[in-house]
Amino acid sequence: MAKVYITTAIPYMNGAPHIGHAMDYCLADVCARYHKMIGDEVRFSAGTDEHGNKIEQKARELGVPVKQYVDENVEKFKEFINKLGVEYTDFVRTTDADHERRVQEIWKKLSPYIYKAKYAGWYCTGCERYVTEKEYEENDGVCPDHQKPYEKFEEENYYLKISEFKDEIRAAIESDELLILPEFRKKEMLALLEESPDVSISRPKSQLDWGVPVPGDENQVMYVWMDALANYITVLGYPENDISEWWPATAEFVGKDILRFHSIIWPAMLIGLKLPFPKALVSHGMVLSNGQKMSKSIGNVVGPMEVIEKHGLEAFRYYFLRHIDTFDDSDFTWEKFENAYNNELANDLGNLVQRLATMIHKNNIEIKIEDRELAAEYLELMNNFEFSKAFDYVWERIQNINRKIDEEKPWMLAKSGEVEKLSLCLNGLANELLFANKMLLPFLPETATKIADVFGGEVTPPEQPLFPKN
Ligand code: MSP
Repeated sequence: MAKVYITTAIPYMNGAPHIGHAMDYCLADVCARYHKMIGDEVRFSAGTDEHGNKIEQKARELGVPVKQYVDENVEKFKEFINKLGVEYTDFVRTTDADHERRVQEIWKKLSPYIYKAKYAGWYCTGCERYVTEKEYEENDGVCPDHQKPYEKFEEENYYLKISEFKDEIRAAIESDELLILPEFRKKEMLALLEESPDVSISRPKSQLDWGVPVPGDENQVMYVWMDALANYITVLGYPENDISEWWPATAEFVGKDILRFHSIIWPAMLIGLKLPFPKALVSHGMVLSNGQKMSKSIGNVVGPMEVIEKHGLEAFRYYFLRHIDTFDDSDFTWEKFENAYNNELANDLGNLVQRLATMIHKNNIEIKIEDRELAAEYLELMNNFEFSKAFDYVWERIQNINRKIDEEKPWMLAKSGEVEKLSLCLNGLANELLFANKMLLPFLPETATKIADVFGGEVTPPEQPLFPKN
């Protein structure tokens, strides 16, 4: 039994959750449930990122005290994470007193690698990121992700000496000691690492009040990413606790847009703290809405609750875990969602369960459950975090059972009274379904439990179809 620690990116508390935020949680939850299924002990952390300019500005715009504003958003996110059925074990808010104190301890430990210097350059508040002169020129002074002009900063800041750590980080990425997935992002990150200057890790208090104070300098506040990245270890009680039981993390789930922070600043912090790197950084693509980035100004933001309310949580998980590619950008449209629900969940699976259970029940067939090892192909995909592919594999098995029913025509065997053959046929089909169902569990836990119950003892068809059509 291994100990598995899984982390999710902590979202900014500058608004309500949208469907894109579901990705980290859904993927991490599948990973956690898979590991529990194969007998591992799992710790799973989630949290909220509550400091920085972006949040402070938003609260100011709304005329609400910042703390009150983040408190309200934290509630919305917690409700959302719970609605997703995510089995997290730990939750950290970056405004928690324990987190703030621990981040200050971390800063002190990193002090041999921190120096003070004048910064003159560009910043994007949307990304909460310092931008190089080269990027500024390439983008004509406007952030392509936020469509906002970069802001000019001229101030005195503290810097983290990324330059001292580059060789070690590069070697770890190249050797997969720090595994970056998908593979094609690894090259991107290595290129960014080469270009990366030392990173500014503080702001003058006069410019940013809403943050963790820099220890020993009352005029400076920590850069929000420094504070946020530390959450993965402060939640375990670092530095006062020995975290070696859980750290290094087995996998950290992040969106592709924030992989750069996890591939450069985070490893640098860990080297400075003499802690190992996480074993894997799993970066997912973006959820698009009707082919476009979700944006309030375009008006195509889809709220997760709406989607869950439409056909329930299992349908939500089905769409986001199978039709949203684990590693690439994928589209959500209501039409695609409806089609997936009706043609796949209701037809392929719901009807299959109903049909098969009805035939077994009507003909009074006893099902002897065979215990089978999980398929090697499935294990390989799951161990490599290829979740949407693993889900495809399971679904193909489900579709094959439907095909087999049509070929073997058990209703003909029933009609001609060939009881033995009928029993053999239905036992084969039921066992095939239970085998696929075992592998379905991390993706659709509620459905898989219901199916196991239907075929587990005396078989009785469910009173309600598993996925009723509208
Ligand atoms: N606060 C930082 C993360 C700090 S982690 C130490 C942040 N917050 S965020 O709210 O902008 O994003 C949180 C997570 O949601 C990130 O993994 C991000 O990639 C993901 N997503 C935000 N919008 C998304 C989509 N439209 N689609 C998929 N994931 C998206 O970044």
